[in-house]
Amino acid sequence: MFTPERFAVSLAIAGLAFATCANPADLGRELPHTQLGRPLDAEPGVLTVWPDGRGLPSGAGSVASGAQLYAERCQACHGERGTGGSGGHLSGRSPLDGPNPDRTVGNYWPYATTVFDYIRRAMPPQAPWSLSANDAYALTAYLLHLNGILPADARLGSDNLSKVEMPNRFGFIPIRER
Ligand code: HEC
Repeated sequence: MFTPERFAVSLAIAGLAFATCANPADLGRELPHTQLGRPLDAEPGVLTVWPDGRGLPSGAGSVASGAQLYAERCQACHGERGTGGSGGHLSGRSPLDGPNPDRTVGNYWPYATTVFDYIRRAMPPQAPWSLSANDAYALTAYLLHLNGILPADARLGSDNLSKVEMPNRFGFIPIRER
């Protein structure tokens, strides 16, 4: 229950915490490093694909092989043709400014390269990094096909993935430092 005494005690604790953190001698001084993690550049084999395509591994995959892989490794959670599964639907392009926009790959991903990166590093969730580069290219191609971005006979690889223009590439407002 709220009482004036409790309020006074909370105020005192808050004051103490502030006094501990905001020691004027510490302000503007670089705090000691925590020694946690490693700088990205220092790690030669880092497996990150950047939006502009840097870091893409060599390889390629077709919509057709992606469809087969999808049925085996993804459909149980994401549903047939990317709709209706418990893991969230991946296809559908209802307009963002409509009453019920699809939160899908076609609508919410500004770059095809980062879709590839995400699939390769995180899917399926019980076996991250289990897909080969070719598999991840094929699955990306299939998902983009399901979203109406690529034709059924398309093939994606290190040479053309970064050239795909996602429908909402320019529909995001970047957060800038003020
Ligand atoms: C065991 C269930 C499961 C399986 C199997 C699975 N996924 Fe997922 N997937 C999820 C869940 C849950 C999420 C949401 C994760 C989150 O939001 O953190 C997700 C998210 C995604 C997303 C991001 C969706 C978005 O727009 O935010 C993509 C793309 C995706 N999965 C692709 C795949 C592919 C490709 C496969 C097959 C290789 C696959 N998933 C297999 C459960 C699964």
